[in-house]
Amino acid sequence: MKLLVTGGCGFIGANFVRLVLEERPEVSVVNLDKLTYAGNLANLAGVDETYGGRYRFIRGDVCDEPVVDGLLAQGIDAVVHFAAESHVDRSIEAAGVFIDTNVGGTRVLLDAAQRRGTPRFVMVSTDEVYGSLGPEGAFREDMPLKPNSPYSASKAAADLLCRAYCVTNGLPVVVTRCSNNYGPYQFPEKLLPLMLTNALEGAPLPVYGDGRNVRDWIYVEDHCRGLLRVLDKGRPGEVYNLGGACERENIELVGGLLRELARQKGQDAEDYLSLISFVTDRPGHDRRYAMDFTKIEQELGWSPQVDLAEGLRRLVAWYLDHETWWREIKSGAYRDYYRSMYEGR
Ligand code: NAD
Ligand code: DAU
Repeated sequence: MKLLVTGGCGFIGANFVRLVLEERPEVSVVNLDKLTYAGNLANLAGVDETYGGRYRFIRGDVCDEPVVDGLLAQGIDAVVHFAAESHVDRSIEAAGVFIDTNVGGTRVLLDAAQRRGTPRFVMVSTDEVYGSLGPEGAFREDMPLKPNSPYSASKAAADLLCRAYCVTNGLPVVVTRCSNNYGPYQFPEKLLPLMLTNALEGAPLPVYGDGRNVRDWIYVEDHCRGLLRVLDKGRPGEVYNLGGACERENIELVGGLLRELARQKGQDAEDYLSLISFVTDRPGHDRRYAMDFTKIEQELGWSPQVDLAEGLRRLVAWYLDHETWWREIKSGAYRDYYRSMYEGR
């Protein structure tokens, strides 16, 4: 089976590529990634050597029609589409690239899949398309989409384009909507890796607003296993929610992270907790997310396996073990490396 993964050099994409190559010897992976600020070749370091002929990296843009069409013309059995601009705060500052990549890039992929008769297409959407919840209840697949940030609006547009291509053109697309992922290789602009690496640097830990916004947290490996399940068995035209069954207020989550960090470092948690600083809230900050993922549990037999205590243990251990990885990102050194490697290509 030949899989086209888009955005495989990002956080979830890299975890997914590693999982597929490790556990599916019959699968070969083509990874199309533009290497934006969030894409990092180091996330897939060693993959070429370990999995030899089963992995190919192509630096390219999902908005580039000839490149995408050329790849799908080579006989791809399935697309798993991760590539996106993914950070809400950046979308508030500058929405253009979110529309270009998230909406335009998805359209390019869908058209090429249609033209080339690609038999399977998994669209990695997000719970943020549903908007924000009050104190009770959880997102279900049949709820209306009410995105609140430019990021989530662009993902909702892409998500609904997938529906349209399936209903109107018969393209076999399956959509997944997952909650907040955490784990290895997450770019340190997102809450947990930002707090963890800032704490290690003795820098302030900026918690937005009152810190009581609620997210549902899922360990990235659980998400990737859910995507594999959807790739194998998901019904075309369907949407599947994935979640971690782990709702936490941000301030509670950050406290748990810092206590785990202190434990692994043999330090006093107060040294880290005292770095927390409440800052101006994110505009339009969604108050609460929670996931009802009964559908994928019942239909496809998937549920999350890693609880928060175990996930935080793994997360802290990984970042302590991979200091060079995150320090190079924070210092910008990895960008210099790409510039020299790709200049003129
Ligand atoms: P990320 O920002 O870490 O990675 C995005 C990757 O896409 C990078 O490697 C980047 O170089 C690549 N990319 C960006 N624009 C591209 C383009 N035009 N052409 C080709 N490649 C491009 O993101 P992530 O957190 O790994 O998220 C991956 C996907 O999962 C996104 O679609 C996101 O919306 C979705 N998602 C994320 C979460 C989460 O908690 N992180 C939860 C649910 C869904
Ligand atoms: O829910 C899924 C989404 O989760 C994905 O679709 C997005 O791609 C991903 O970025 C993530 O979005 P969030 O906005 O929820 O993640 P972020 O890590 O930016 O923020 C998590 C929570 O922490 C949110 O309530 C905002 C808050 N926060 C975030 C940052 C970066 C802070 O309080 N301080 C911060 O510095």
